Amino acid sequence: MRFTLRYGIDAPFWVAIFIGIGAGFSIVSLFALPHSLFGLVFGLYLFAIGLWMLLYSAVIKISHRYVILGLANVQAGDVLLDVGAGRGLLAIAAARQGCKVTAIDRWSQWDLGGNGRRALERNAETEGVPGIEILDGDVRKLPFETETFSVVVSNFVLHNIKGDDNRALAIREMWRVLRLNGRLVISDILPTQTYIETLALLTDRIQTKRYLYTFPFSRVIVAYKNDGSQQS
Ligand SMILES: C[S@@+](CC[C@H](N)C(=O)[O-])C[C@H]1O[C@@H](n2cnc3c(N)ncnc32)[C@H](O)[C@@H]1O
Repeated sequence: MRFTLRYGIDAPFWVAIFIGIGAGFSIVSLFALPHSLFGLVFGLYLFAIGLWMLLYSAVIKISHRYVILGLANVQAGDVLLDVGAGRGLLAIAAARQGCKVTAIDRWSQWDLGGNGRRALERNAETEGVPGIEILDGDVRKLPFETETFSVVVSNFVLHNIKGDDNRALAIREMWRVLRLNGRLVISDILPTQTYIETLALLTDRIQTKRYLYTFPFSRVIVAYKNDGSQQS
């Protein structure tokens, strides 16, 4: 088990709120026991959620990325796009496995602490993987030709986009840039059922898997683009 903050804390504002308010509530309630038992339980509950989110960013996602790439059946030589790459969690692991990698992001600090192109470059240098192409951009309007990539991946990105319509647009864009016989892998939390509904209009080859060790509980969706699939 490896601990590192190299890939940033997801939703750092919420982590601070849960840990801060949870700890405060617990301490205050402790001094007013036994009347404040509910307050203590509530405080500890918030604190535990914050801690779990922190643990996800510092430990769990570092190994979970290999689960995601494994489901994508990533092979050396794959031409892979990491959408919402952040500080390079999936992009760098894929490059280490011999893929030709492009990473694109709009670098939101709200979504990921210390986010930025420079952070990704530094991590790639540290991990000894040169050659990742890094672009600024929005997943809803990807600056690539149709059918450019053999694999498109994204981790904990789409739920940050507001509105089902915008998220569906993002999924259709990822699908557009995927080659025939390619794999689209979306790992995310919250409205994942709507992603499946969008993808079901594009392909009948979809697999999903839930992971209860991430917080909040995440789902990985793998969609295969084959001859029978619609193009976008
Ligand atoms: C929680 S972070 C996850 C980063 C990385 N995938 C990881 O797992 O560590 C979400 C990322 O999605 C990016 N993002 C959010 N909305 C985006 C959009 N519309 N287009 C491109 N990137 C986006 C954010 O800037 C952020 O880097």
